[in-house]
Amino acid sequence: MPAQRKLFVTTALPYANGNFHIGHIMEYIQADIWVRHQRMQGSQVHFVCADDAHGAPIMIAAEKAGKSPQQFVADIAAGRKPYLDGFHIAFDNWHSTDAPENHELAQQIYRDLKANGLVSSKVIEQFFDPAKNMFLPDRFIKGECPNCHAKDQYGDNCEVCSKVYSPTDLINPYSALSGATPVLKSSEHFFFKLSDPRCMAFLKEWTRAEGRLQTEVLNKISEWLEPDETGKSALGDWDISRDAPYFGIEIPDAPGKYFYVWLDAPVGYLASLKNYLGKIGVDYDKFIADPDVEQYHFIGKDIITFHTLFWPAMLHFSGRKVPNKVFVHGFLTVNNGEKMSKSRGTGLDPLKYLSLGMNPEWLRYYLAAKLSGRNEDIDFNPEDFMARVNSDLIGKFVNIASRAVKFVPGGKLTAATAEPGELALVENVKAMYEARDYGRALRDIMAYADKVNLRFDSAAPWKLVKEGQAAEAAAVCSLCLESFKIMTACLKPVLPALAAQAEAFLQCAPLDWSNAAVPLGEGHQVGDYKHLMQRVDVKQLDALFEPAADAEPVPTAPGGEELAPVISIDDFARIDLRIAKIVNCETVEGSTKLLRMTLDVGEGKTRNVFSGIASAYKPEELIGKLTVMVANLAPRKMKFGISEGMVLAASHADEKANPGIYVMNPWPGAEPGMRVR
Ligand code: MSP
Ligand code: ZN
Repeated sequence: MPAQRKLFVTTALPYANGNFHIGHIMEYIQADIWVRHQRMQGSQVHFVCADDAHGAPIMIAAEKAGKSPQQFVADIAAGRKPYLDGFHIAFDNWHSTDAPENHELAQQIYRDLKANGLVSSKVIEQFFDPAKNMFLPDRFIKGECPNCHAKDQYGDNCEVCSKVYSPTDLINPYSALSGATPVLKSSEHFFFKLSDPRCMAFLKEWTRAEGRLQTEVLNKISEWLEPDETGKSALGDWDISRDAPYFGIEIPDAPGKYFYVWLDAPVGYLASLKNYLGKIGVDYDKFIADPDVEQYHFIGKDIITFHTLFWPAMLHFSGRKVPNKVFVHGFLTVNNGEKMSKSRGTGLDPLKYLSLGMNPEWLRYYLAAKLSGRNEDIDFNPEDFMARVNSDLIGKFVNIASRAVKFVPGGKLTAATAEPGELALVENVKAMYEARDYGRALRDIMAYADKVNLRFDSAAPWKLVKEGQAAEAAAVCSLCLESFKIMTACLKPVLPALAAQAEAFLQCAPLDWSNAAVPLGEGHQVGDYKHLMQRVDVKQLDALFEPAADAEPVPTAPGGEELAPVISIDDFARIDLRIAKIVNCETVEGSTKLLRMTLDVGEGKTRNVFSGIASAYKPEELIGKLTVMVANLAPRKMKFGISEGMVLAASHADEKANPGIYVMNPWPGAEPGMRVR
């Protein structure tokens, strides 16, 4: 038995300027599953998070709300608990980057970096809002794009032509806060000297250490770790100071200067840990310096550079221990990446999910099934969600307990024993959790569940009982209950509440990796079966995506639907639209919405495409017609097969109240395979 591991685990600290959205919850569920897995193998884990309280956007939002920034972030913090409890996310501590521990630690780290010769200062010119009396962050300066002359563009890049520039390049700049014309003003700024050769040398070694970062993450940051064309380090010095007024931490010996929010934000990991260890009476300094303590950060793909370059360098050059690994996940989208908008109701509001009585473990199971250890985006698809929960989780796993226990008289197991293959299953699943490849873990568990159900069905215990072979029925079903126990253990990191209920039913000790494959054994007494989990009802999903009653109408939008953000011609060119001939079309058994189409796009083979137009067209109306399809859409696995593209059709935004779907049909003369541009 290896020595007990000591782990310090965090998720990214969410900005305290709004409630959690489903992307945050996804990150917490991913980390929570990993932490629960660690605890099941006896590791000691401190799992902490905090609100990221500082920065100009929060200061400005607080002012708009008529609150002090402290009050503003306290109000946000007060709303965190229902989300975390609701989805069984078991952080040991929730703190704030504005707490005293963080002020102290951030200032100390800064002093240590400075003593190490890695802080410099320089006077720079920046836009200043004379009406507001403050320097303007880039995103609060707007003006005309110097490249394409689009109006009202942000200070850092143009949303119309995608050109990147600095705010001083804008034509007719204005402050988005006051409307005033900003003036250039100079001020002294402090820099973390990342261009120092010591930093590059350290970061090369740290990032490339075996197993430290996912390959795709290492590739992403590699451009920063090689010299640029001029032979200079590609990593420039990092501007870590901001001028008052700023909601942040004061820089020691520099009146009126504050740390840029990203300097003190990751220090908040340490501050939350310190606060927690204080509560449980453990010495922070000793713990954090202990070489046996492993430090892990779960983050999203948008904040990689902060966590894989700046943060390890801050820790290392201030004489502290560095993280062992940074685990990067992709983004969660809802309904195939459709823009999340309150008025269209396409987002997935986590609290609304809970208030509809939807089981939090359905979401945990579904997200786990989609997560791998890689930095990849995943999508919440309602049909897929319902199928996976109802047919896998309930149909294959939960139901086996209720079906089997009926044939075990008095709930006393007879001749029950586990098989050698089951130890291998447990070991495999454990390794998959360790690698954060939850999707594969669940696939292995479900493949095992299939075998268990097959054993039950082919033994047909109900028949055995009728034929006077009740003892045989009890034996097979006892074995099925042993299997149910093993599956419960394997699913426990994902489904902690269900596992607790199942343990109560099985009357067994709390399951962990050491007892997962140990049979309950002959003579073990299980309890009364109470139903463990409801199925997803389609009505709940409809309600979940129903637009909020208080959603603001969008009065001037064409056709009643908000216009999508402006894109460039290059963005459009990425979508490959083709003329397609509908060579065949048929209804789909089990679906009232979908038609299955066989399309010819001039490729010498046909494609299979599903389209949700069954309410509007009969298959025979469409056969032989031409239409337009998105030909380079990633193939999508649906319940009924793989869809290799998408047919274009028009509809109202509020399809339910305003039905009608109209498939595109080109003018005569178009031929299959022609590109639509
Ligand atoms: N405050 C910074 C992090 C500081 S860490 C020292 C921040 N906050 S955030 O609220 O914008 O994001 C918090 C986390 O949520 C990040 O890891 C981010 O990648 C993640 N996500 C935000 N939107 C997401 C999705 N749609 N999907 C998955 N994760 C997403 O960044
Ligand atoms: Zn432009």
